[in-house]
Amino acid sequence: MASGSEHDEHFWTSRRARWFNQAVQISDFPAQTLKALEPVLVGCRSVLDVGAGVGALTLPLARSVEAVTAMEPSPTMLEALRENLAHAHLRNVTCIPAAWGKTEVPPHDLILVANVSPIFTDLLGFLTTAEPLARRAIALVQNVGPGTEKFYFGELYPLLLGRPYPPRDDYLKTVTLLHSLGIYADVQIIGYHFDQPFADLAEAVDFWKEQMRLADPEQERRLVGYLQTKLQRVGSRLVAPMRRQSAVLTWRVAQRDRT
Ligand SMILES: C[S@@+](CC[C@H](N)C(=O)[O-])C[C@H]1O[C@@H](n2cnc3c(N)ncnc32)[C@H](O)[C@@H]1O
Repeated sequence: MASGSEHDEHFWTSRRARWFNQAVQISDFPAQTLKALEPVLVGCRSVLDVGAGVGALTLPLARSVEAVTAMEPSPTMLEALRENLAHAHLRNVTCIPAAWGKTEVPPHDLILVANVSPIFTDLLGFLTTAEPLARRAIALVQNVGPGTEKFYFGELYPLLLGRPYPPRDDYLKTVTLLHSLGIYADVQIIGYHFDQPFADLAEAVDFWKEQMRLADPEQERRLVGYLQTKLQRVGSRLVAPMRRQSAVLTWRVAQRDRT
């Protein structure tokens, strides 16, 4: 049975990995993030993508620097990442099938963490071990609260659960932590589509039943009603339109000899 928390190593079932991959394939998240990373990528030859997932950022990074290391502990995400790399004929990516801290990694010019909630939970622990391995810079990509995303956070969640989506930690906590460490990161807020495509309505219902762990038939009835009016037809698929925001935090590490 699938667990509901991304902190659980079994969270990324093959079905969840497939849904995530399908959303990534039609999203402008990779392009918007790479644009925000452009200044910090100048002079970088190697990037370590921690929690690479299906390679949303690994792939475009591999097209712009000499070598990328993709660290990814989930076997299902890693499998999708490898397929995406093969499909794109990219051969300058080394995959490390492990979680951060579970194996040694060599220094890289840029260390990137995007949307890896277990790392943001213990960011100080991560930074303590990552900083000595970053030759030039570190970049973090994190959610902006629930932001202005309407479909799920603004409408579906309150409709089904009868309460607003709860406040959650976001990039502001990270900026505050960095500031207390004397790190004054550049902050860029990016907006992007992260639409979720489905083959049909039944698949969309399954997706949110799993995501929200719904068991009550009345909730399912409301879910179906909402999806029937809000999903958009795009070609042969139905798409849940989701517009999200993230913060891209970047800073250069102090230059010192790290041989
Ligand atoms: C939401 S996905 C984001 C993937 C990608 N960075 C992106 O932005 O599209 C989070 C990924 O981090 C991985 N992950 C979770 N805990 C991790 C850890 N401690 N170290 C490295 N990766 C981790 C998960 O397996 C998952 O693939």
